[in-house]
Amino acid sequence: MKLVSRSAEDTMMQGELFSRDLQPGDVIGLDGDLGTGKTQFVKGVCRGLEVTEVVNSPTFIIVNEYSGHYRHKDIKIYHFDLYRMVTPAELGTLGFEEYIADNSICLIEWPELAEKYLGKTLKKVRFSYGNGENERIIEINH
Ligand SMILES: Nc1ncnc2c1ncn2[C@@H]1O[C@H](COP(=O)(O)OP(=O)(O)OP(=O)(O)O)[C@@H](O)[C@H]1O
Ligand SMILES: [Mg+2]
Repeated sequence: MKLVSRSAEDTMMQGELFSRDLQPGDVIGLDGDLGTGKTQFVKGVCRGLEVTEVVNSPTFIIVNEYSGHYRHKDIKIYHFDLYRMVTPAELGTLGFEEYIADNSICLIEWPELAEKYLGKTLKKVRFSYGNGENERIIEINH
């Protein structure tokens, strides 16, 4: 499914809609250049999962953890940004597999390394720039 977003709020709304199709244990890779809206989308997913904490890019601490609700049950959301992560070994020291194995939702910005590490294809959402300054293309593959 290919969508055109025309504002940051629009992208958040798409994230919120996307959250309704998620299941505990889902691992989602968010692919796309700097500033294409990956974090805005995560903010929307978290809004959909009733997260009350502030959602921001975890660039310097690699992973943020939020608490939300999924069908009236508590759920953890792990938000990774692997932009600065360069080797699978580093990913190993994070205890990455344990996050993934948990019955939580994992959202991963810059997921290429995670795919190499896990050896599997994640659910993918791809972001790219559109024509106008505020236009973004969002491609969702379920
Ligand atoms: N249609 C749009 N969708 C999302 N963000 C938009 C849109 N139009 C403008 N923006 C702006 O673009 C920026 C997107 O930033 P965001 O942090 O979500 O990108 P990112 O893909 O996570 O980047 P990074 O790779 O650096 O983490 C924000 O400043 C936002 O306000
Ligand atoms: Mg980001």
